[in-house]
Amino acid sequence: MKRLKKTYYIHTFGCQSNKSDSERVAGDYEARGYLEAKDWHSCDELIVNTCAIRQRAEDKARGFLHNVVVYFNQQGKRRPKIILTGCMTHHGNDKLYAMLPMVDEILPINEVGFNQAAIRKDSLTAEGKKHAWIPISAGCNSFCTYCIVPYSRGREQSRSFESIMEEVERLVAEGYSEVSLLGQNVNSWGLEKVGIGFRKLMMERKDFTRDDLPENQSQYLTPEGTPPFVKLLQAISAYPQIEKIRFLTSNPWDFHDELIAEIGKNKKIDRFVHLPVQSGSNAVLYRMNRGYTRERYVEVVNKLRAVDPDITIGTDIIVGFAGETDAEFQETVQLAQEMDWKVGFVAIYSPRPGTASWRIYPDDIPHSVKKKRWEVLDQIINKDNLSIRPKIV
Ligand code: 5AD
Ligand code: SF4
Repeated sequence: MKRLKKTYYIHTFGCQSNKSDSERVAGDYEARGYLEAKDWHSCDELIVNTCAIRQRAEDKARGFLHNVVVYFNQQGKRRPKIILTGCMTHHGNDKLYAMLPMVDEILPINEVGFNQAAIRKDSLTAEGKKHAWIPISAGCNSFCTYCIVPYSRGREQSRSFESIMEEVERLVAEGYSEVSLLGQNVNSWGLEKVGIGFRKLMMERKDFTRDDLPENQSQYLTPEGTPPFVKLLQAISAYPQIEKIRFLTSNPWDFHDELIAEIGKNKKIDRFVHLPVQSGSNAVLYRMNRGYTRERYVEVVNKLRAVDPDITIGTDIIVGFAGETDAEFQETVQLAQEMDWKVGFVAIYSPRPGTASWRIYPDDIPHSVKKKRWEVLDQIINKDNLSIRPKIV
């Protein structure tokens, strides 16, 4: 019997942004009349959505592709059309070049756009509420020295207010009551035109606060006294049907007082805030080009807890960053003891080809030391929830 409809299958690696992108890729395929296959063994087109954040992530994608190709060779069957998308598709990635013989097409994720409604799976929460991920920006302008994201996802681009609100409206009509806003740095939503300049200023003066901004630039930051992201949170909360809003990720360098005040007032905003610190050592933070100090981080957390003692904080930390001395690592250990983070995603530094730290600093901490440091921090931060702790080695 002749099959009428072609089928697709998406295999997704990596973070929530990738999962959300895959929902839009699915929307695009279904709008073109494709049906979802039940697995990759039986589809006409296989889309592999890749992650490049650490070496391991790239190895996984390559391993998967290899398995797919071997499977079809062994079965003597024609393999599906293989389409590679996600963070490994940026130019200059050696791993990508090695995979090209197995790939039929490259799909840069920014070409997917927002024209088709996302197909959301797994959207029911444990309490039976409908929850949706909503991308509010793409790319990143922060250029932390270790991070591939500004290269793999390009410059920061905010999705328009209208486009986000249209999606919220549709979701509300479909009975959704919880949303999570996604961006590499949600705080700077709507501000990318001035963001790089601010960050540069912050780097030049390590004790910088927003009160130090020149008059004309602070006007940019708060055109009517409110950062655009705070306005977006207010607009979404105005829907009575929306019960809970989460956002990730937030960067400490521009976690402004107005945002803290809004979180304090607006109880629809989740009481869990994810705020990556990356290191407790100012010297390491500087080498990472993070744009804030340990003291500034602690100040933001204290202010958050002051507006609502029920707020809990999660974090990301990198251990074994280039040149991280024992004394520098101990500063992170001490911070972890003080901060009472609810959860910590501790990662072992993995130099990413093309990034600034890969170019400038030798990866000089032996893997055994990195691993030991990982265990020490994981024990301190995640000791109460070892069963659910994230494993990111
Ligand atoms: N090596 C290890 N961890 C990294 N992260 C980002 N880049 C790297 C890298 N090169 C971690 C950071 C970030 C999280 C998403 O992944 O902690 O917050
Ligand atoms: Fe962007 Fe920095 Fe986050 Fe990397 S760690 S994605 S550069 S904000």
